[in-house]
Amino acid sequence: MRTVAVILAAGQGTRMRSDLPKVLHPLAGRPMVRYVLEAVRGAGVDRVVAVVGHQADRVAQALGDDARCVVQEPQLGTGHAVQCAEAEAAGFDRVLVVPGDTPLLTAGTLASLLERHARSGAAAVLLTAVVDDPTGYGRVIRDAAGMVQRIVEEADAGPEERAVREINAGVAVFDGPALFAALRGITAANRQNEYYLWDVLPLLMAAGGAVEAVAAADPDEIMGVNDRVALAEAEAVVRRRIARHWMRQGVTLVDPATTYIGADVEIGPDTVIEPLTVLAGRTVVGRSCRIGPGAQIYHSRIGDGCTVGPSVIEESRLGDGVTVGPFNHLRPGTVLEDGARVGNFAELKNTRVGPGSKVPHHSYLGDAEIGRGVNIGAGAVTVNYDGRAKHPTRIEDGAFIGCNVNLVAPVTVGRRGYVAAGSTIHRDVPPEALAIARNRQENKEGWVRRRLGPAGDEPPEG
Ligand code: UD1
Ligand code: CA
Repeated sequence: MRTVAVILAAGQGTRMRSDLPKVLHPLAGRPMVRYVLEAVRGAGVDRVVAVVGHQADRVAQALGDDARCVVQEPQLGTGHAVQCAEAEAAGFDRVLVVPGDTPLLTAGTLASLLERHARSGAAAVLLTAVVDDPTGYGRVIRDAAGMVQRIVEEADAGPEERAVREINAGVAVFDGPALFAALRGITAANRQNEYYLWDVLPLLMAAGGAVEAVAAADPDEIMGVNDRVALAEAEAVVRRRIARHWMRQGVTLVDPATTYIGADVEIGPDTVIEPLTVLAGRTVVGRSCRIGPGAQIYHSRIGDGCTVGPSVIEESRLGDGVTVGPFNHLRPGTVLEDGARVGNFAELKNTRVGPGSKVPHHSYLGDAEIGRGVNIGAGAVTVNYDGRAKHPTRIEDGAFIGCNVNLVAPVTVGRRGYVAAGSTIHRDVPPEALAIARNRQENKEGWVRRRLGPAGDEPPEG
């Protein structure tokens, strides 16, 4: 049996009050609709069609090549949306309809819905759930024998119907030809003046088809995200799922509740993530690392056996055995090679630090190329910006940069070169040379006594 999935993603999502289309709001850093797409793909369908409309280009771009997009313009309701997919869905035996705003659905649940349909041959198999608070969802109306009759939207429901706690997940498998035939019969005669997809149910039954419902094993899964309150609730579920996944892969999360791991992050076994840590974007952390507490790592690659204290790391790359001590900011383009160490209160940008080199305290290094075995003293900075352009600094293998040194770029310190503390270096330092660029110290003997008199004679305070 050939199956096409139709993802409904054309709506604006008015209740989000956002310029961003609802289905593009991220959960753990990934657009909501991508979760739906993955669940659908994982369930094993032959084609995925997405119905887009509001900011169609943006939504289509987020879906990429994984779905064929059809445009619904204007958006006249979910029934109309499915109709718009008819040409792309023609020739398939059955149609799996999934809203783009139910990101917690799993592939397993969709697969069991498809399986139930294959066994029963019903005209429609719906996914439902019994929940404590059905507010906002369509209610499942059954007859005295317990057979599903129809779905009534909250806006159209009377008090008795509103009291029903069995809700429509918005997900169903339909017999393809029967669905598109029935869609021709629905109208927009309801409180919202929309073509409701679910109005096909009585029409399918009138044509002799059966309508069945399967209850979701986990009611969490069917949550529809209509506003930002639901968005945060869905985020919490996604985050718990991600945390459990990595713990099962051998990662220790000391406090999963305060650890934020993005959906596109990867972490090696035996790595320990301390509390209040954020790992986001396309970040990869190797094995046997210790990260946090309080680390924030975005779009970066961390090797094996690294230690990262509370620091912010963006678009950077760390080799193996690297230590990034507390309170550092590694800005885009930072590369720390194997065994390098960056200590307290350092800022690095577009800078490579060679193997085993140290930047232990209070430095700014921008646009610098630092060799292996280099020591950068406390407070040493690259003066990389002259007010107009950025210039490079080169520090070759084994060089020693004293404390509070200014390296006025462009400038090179040669192999094993030495720069004395407090120097402002604006000319290249040859290999193995010592550079001192500061005023000579002068000591004026007896100056204090001449000025203030002998010790013990100081005037009273105030
Ligand atoms: C819908 C169902 C409701 C169900 C709930 C489950 C209808 C009429 N109601 O309500 O029974 O309980 O989902 O979450 O179907 N969309 C389009 N084109 C449109 C309208 C909507 O593509 O013209 C898309 C939206 O972008 C969204 C999805 O369909 O992704 C559902 O639409 P939404 O407005 O959120 O429907 P609900 O009111 O939540
Ligand atoms: Ca919805």
